[in-house]
Amino acid sequence: MMDENTLPERDVWSDWLLHGRDGGDPHYARALRALVERYVERVLAGAALQPGETFADVGAGEGLLALRALELTGGDLQVWLTDLSAPLLRHAQQLAEQRGLAQRCRFLCATAERLTGIADESLDAITTRSVLAYVADKTAALREFHRVLRPGGRISIGEPIFQDEAVAAQAMRAVIGANAPEAVSPLLRLMHRWKASQFPDTDEAIRASAIASYSERDLVRFAQNAGFVDVHLELHIDALPSIVRTWEVFINTAPHPLAPPLSAIMAEKFTPSERELFERSMRPVIEDPRAVSTERMAYLTARKPRA
Ligand SMILES: C[S@@+](CC[C@H](N)C(=O)[O-])C[C@H]1O[C@@H](n2cnc3c(N)ncnc32)[C@H](O)[C@@H]1O
Repeated sequence: MMDENTLPERDVWSDWLLHGRDGGDPHYARALRALVERYVERVLAGAALQPGETFADVGAGEGLLALRALELTGGDLQVWLTDLSAPLLRHAQQLAEQRGLAQRCRFLCATAERLTGIADESLDAITTRSVLAYVADKTAALREFHRVLRPGGRISIGEPIFQDEAVAAQAMRAVIGANAPEAVSPLLRLMHRWKASQFPDTDEAIRASAIASYSERDLVRFAQNAGFVDVHLELHIDALPSIVRTWEVFINTAPHPLAPPLSAIMAEKFTPSERELFERSMRPVIEDPRAVSTERMAYLTARKPRA
């Protein structure tokens, strides 16, 4: 697959998916896995994969969606697992071998924008889950999907919508900037320092950010601009009991792979007394059994025109 001697052992993506995302807490890890599996099932439902087809899961990560599709569809469904992370592809390949699925998989280390190695019009479908969020030029990636799909080929995409998080950070920045220092609560300053370490908080930074510059409506436009038709998008907003039940999980996890966890932000950017204030104020909120967390996921399906 790749030259083993030149591959990195780990990168930011493998650290997140294989080690960081659950904060080392087994209860949270199980709840998070169940949540991610629901997202994956939804993307798979949109792809409507059939025996005998070949599809690519772009940004396949540890192979969760690709291997699930092979197990569900059976027969001779074939998959390309593509990802820019060599450590994750290697991990996915090991999992495919353990589960007896490797014969039906091909592995490609490539960015979503340039699927070099996949021939024009060679695929029946493309799936991708939480990947375009990190791609700067989403239309370029969708054009590349269009290139490798046969006429009539399908895409099924599930992406988080993070824009509201950035807007919240921006609003805190505006309140702090518009008021005299003594009128701003110390807790608001800390909330802003926390959020602005994980999301952009100015117009300019939001526009330049791969993760925060787009809404669900932009995803529709990007797909149309790339040449797709029959574009259908569903925005799912789930305000559900939070799966983060303890302060320790809260501070040791992050909302996306490129964000530092709150524990690192507190260590670097808070004084000891600020840490104490923050924990005293926030711990009861986080550990309240009625705590709610809101997730925004956009699911898009479309197809390449037949003619
Ligand atoms: C949040 S993970 C999702 C992984 C997987 N799709 C899943 O559902 O579990 C994001 C994935 O996107 C990959 N990725 C990030 N930027 C990419 C890019 N420009 N091209 C291809 N893959 C990318 C990462 O390596 C990582 O595997």
